[in-house]
Amino acid sequence: MADANFTTTETGTPVASDEFSLTSGTNGTTALHDRYLVEKLASFNRERVPERNPHAKGAGAFGELVITEDVSQYTRAAVFQKGATSETLIRFSSVAGEQGSPDTWRDVRGFSLRFYTTEGNLDIVGNNTPTFFIRDGIKFPDFIHSQKRLGQSGLRDADMQWDFWTLSPESAHQVTYLMGDRGLSKSWRHLNGYGSHTYQWVNAAGERFWVKYHFISRQGVVPMSGDEAERIAGADADYYRRDLFEAIENGDYPTWDVQVQVMPYEDAKTYRFNPFDLTKTWSKKDYPRIPVGHFTLNRNPENFFAEIEQAAFSPGNQVPGTGISPDKMLMARVFSYPDAQRYRIGANYNQLPVNQPHAAEVRNYMHQGNMQFLFNPADARVYAPNSYGGPAADAERGVEATWEDDGTLVRSASALHSEDDDFGQAGTLYRDVFDDGEKARFLDTLVGQFESLTVDRIKDRFLQYWGNVDADLADKIRARVSAEASVSDDTTPGAPYSPKPEADAE
Ligand code: HEM
Repeated sequence: MADANFTTTETGTPVASDEFSLTSGTNGTTALHDRYLVEKLASFNRERVPERNPHAKGAGAFGELVITEDVSQYTRAAVFQKGATSETLIRFSSVAGEQGSPDTWRDVRGFSLRFYTTEGNLDIVGNNTPTFFIRDGIKFPDFIHSQKRLGQSGLRDADMQWDFWTLSPESAHQVTYLMGDRGLSKSWRHLNGYGSHTYQWVNAAGERFWVKYHFISRQGVVPMSGDEAERIAGADADYYRRDLFEAIENGDYPTWDVQVQVMPYEDAKTYRFNPFDLTKTWSKKDYPRIPVGHFTLNRNPENFFAEIEQAAFSPGNQVPGTGISPDKMLMARVFSYPDAQRYRIGANYNQLPVNQPHAAEVRNYMHQGNMQFLFNPADARVYAPNSYGGPAADAERGVEATWEDDGTLVRSASALHSEDDDFGQAGTLYRDVFDDGEKARFLDTLVGQFESLTVDRIKDRFLQYWGNVDADLADKIRARVSAEASVSDDTTPGAPYSPKPEADAE
């Protein structure tokens, strides 16, 4: 009804003007009791919630997961039974940049998935790389701080990033991915996603398996050149966001195949390297990828803030038949995400439409707190046990992923496996996986990174680090840098590299 389309206050009262505040005479003071003016200004001042600390810039869409294969021998999860379909939410993101940062800055891309399953929400919060920079959650804030901004100048700083990486040799595999073609993709549609961590599956008989999730883009994995990325960063900061939104608006729905590597539970004890170490990938020869199904994105959000900004993914959102593993990173994440979201969105963030389960019901005894708007029936008792027919836990349904440990509290790396090292898989990725074109682009990128360094001890460690990945690669970087140094003006800050014999300051 057009005549009913009038502005109201937040409590539904018709408003007298959209343009004039209430004043004492035309040029007089503003009345504090102009309740609509005050409400409007106050609402405006509270529009922003804190951005995600890492992964602030991103966007997402909805779609559907379809399971086409029988993997019931590995998991009892309803979501993964052949023929099952589940509403899906995805959010892509950059790690380091803030809201508004250019999409095409070189970075790892977040690949957050939510499946709204009949047994509750299953979130797989991964990246477009199968590994990560560190293997213990205690280092995560340090890693992110090194990617963000200097305290004094507020500037991002290459020295800080490479200082952290070269002092954290376990980062080498992931940094090789990041400086290679994965660090810049043609679009979010043109990248693969990975659960990255080792997760657990449990079948109907209670047998346990370790799994790695792979999401393979049917659009192909297509890189973007550094020059193109730099140009686009200036021309269209929201390039990836726009590409995804427009593709879906135009009916060009992107699809990813869902595959898993499955490791029998007992193999973990004797595998060549620690299979719970997030800096490693499992050999596809040892554990081939098994097809499971696919998901397609076919619906843009109706409201970016409500459905994407307030989406609260957590690796702890598992369902019966899926679970986590003793990966120290993953266990830290299970604590960290809901904590971040209680701060970022509010105590009852899981009651928001995007975070509620869509195919399951919530029944428990948690209640009240800021902004609660869902509540139990009036006659419900909010304690367990009770004799009023309230919900009771069911160990059969709520089967959890478990594992054994030796019970000793320690602060140490995990028990050693024969091939636990920091540089081996990085070297293999460079030598055996990158083709000649990618090797050449990788070298260009590393030379560019080296040239952005200003601190000699970090330059030294940079060359040692890449020498540990591949001696020939470090020689190539050295040759390029000294060739360029010999033609550059060595009074230019940061241009030439002249290693100093002094001991490393650390
Ligand atoms: C112990 C290590 C880690 C910690 C403590 C951590 C912590 C966080 C936090 C606090 C957020 C913001 C959550 C929010 O405000 O909603 C976040 C976002 C994210 N993290 Fe991590 N993270 C860790 C490791 C990882 C790893 C290993 C991956 C990928 C394999 C990852 C992928 C993501 C993604 C994709 C997002 C964005 C989620 C979204 O789209 O809303 N993080 N992380």
